[in-house]
Amino acid sequence: MGTPLKIGIAGLGNVGTSVFQLLKQHATLVADRTQRPMTVTAVSARTQGKDRGLDLTKVKWHDNPVDLANDKDVDVVVELMGGSGGAAFDLIKQALGNNKPVVTANKALLALRGGEVLALLKNSKGTISYEAAVAGGIPIIKGLREGLAANQVRAVYGILNGTCNFILSEMSSSGRDFADVLVEAQAKGYAEADPSFDIDGIDAGHKLAILSGLAFGCVPDFSTVQTKGIRNISSLDIEFARELGFRIKLLGIAQQTDRGIEQSIEPCLVPKTSPIAHVEGALNAVYVDGDYVGKVLMMGAGAGGNPTASAVVSDLIDVARGRTLPLLGTQNPQPLKSANINERIGSYFLRLIVLDQPGVIADVSAILRDCTVSLESVLQRGRSPGQPVPVILTSHETPEGNMLKAVGLIGKLKSVVKPPYLMRIEMFGQKPS
Ligand code: HSE
Repeated sequence: MGTPLKIGIAGLGNVGTSVFQLLKQHATLVADRTQRPMTVTAVSARTQGKDRGLDLTKVKWHDNPVDLANDKDVDVVVELMGGSGGAAFDLIKQALGNNKPVVTANKALLALRGGEVLALLKNSKGTISYEAAVAGGIPIIKGLREGLAANQVRAVYGILNGTCNFILSEMSSSGRDFADVLVEAQAKGYAEADPSFDIDGIDAGHKLAILSGLAFGCVPDFSTVQTKGIRNISSLDIEFARELGFRIKLLGIAQQTDRGIEQSIEPCLVPKTSPIAHVEGALNAVYVDGDYVGKVLMMGAGAGGNPTASAVVSDLIDVARGRTLPLLGTQNPQPLKSANINERIGSYFLRLIVLDQPGVIADVSAILRDCTVSLESVLQRGRSPGQPVPVILTSHETPEGNMLKAVGLIGKLKSVVKPPYLMRIEMFGQKPS
């Protein structure tokens, strides 16, 4: 048996607590697999006295997390504080400055400051591992960086936020409202500290930026990800989508095109027969489409203490084994060349709330015609002369810019009484049933 690997953990929330417990419960298993026992020697968290159900009596406490990086009894720093600025960045910088490996779950930091992190790594013998930063317990970082490393990746896409998937699944199965289900997701511990990170697509956007970086050998750049969340989805949309043969999912999609890399987080209609339509609750699912392997799907728990701890400890196992890999799977990551999303081709679902009166659909169709958008279907439910009623339109494939222009003009019609709501229909090469 080799020398013990001494671990310092910054952040003892859900994930930090689970990491601590896993390392205790699986001490023998982990030591057998690495030939090095692992021991948590030091921790840092916001509140020292809090009862976390952990025995911290033999563990050194640091009020300042950065001190973990300077502690001679810490070989590897586990950063579980989150956030792209402040203490998390300072800790990582100090650890790398001291040539220590870092394991982190910090997606925001990698997605927003990937270039700076790469620069720090250049001058350090330390490493950064980040399996827990994307899709919780799903080993998608290893999947892309190792198992699929022989492929030219065409696209990576999927469900990257457990909170949103939970909310959409619950709204769909129970007909409950968005706000009501959000409270339940928070109570279950899926949601980020600031729930807008989940429901506005920011958390998923951070994850997609990292996946893009790995898939395409680029420096992650969150500013190039178009993000749209789920807060404006109504139960009406879910019902109409179902009637048309679809489910609504918040998807992250990154694909290589001739124009550069398209990256978006947005609610999409997916065929009810597609595997992704059946990913329910807080689960995540990620597809990688590679030129030799074809499509590979990984699915599992994308949030929660234990699944995320599984990912963190898998990185610690790599550290104990002395395995190192380039951060983004390449020695020479390039700046990301982003494609203009307005040129993306797709078909669309458009929900309008219009006054029930003659000529409204004619006005809407005239705008679509002028913007060269071809209609596939029009659905109206109910009859209330002069009153607002929902009308759902679906389009044939069209450049997104044309559709956006049409939606802008339709929203200005007097008979359209609420802002129109647009969603992409993502067919994954299938035909609707
Ligand atoms: N809040 C995230 C989610 C989990 O709901 O998926 C951590 O990334």
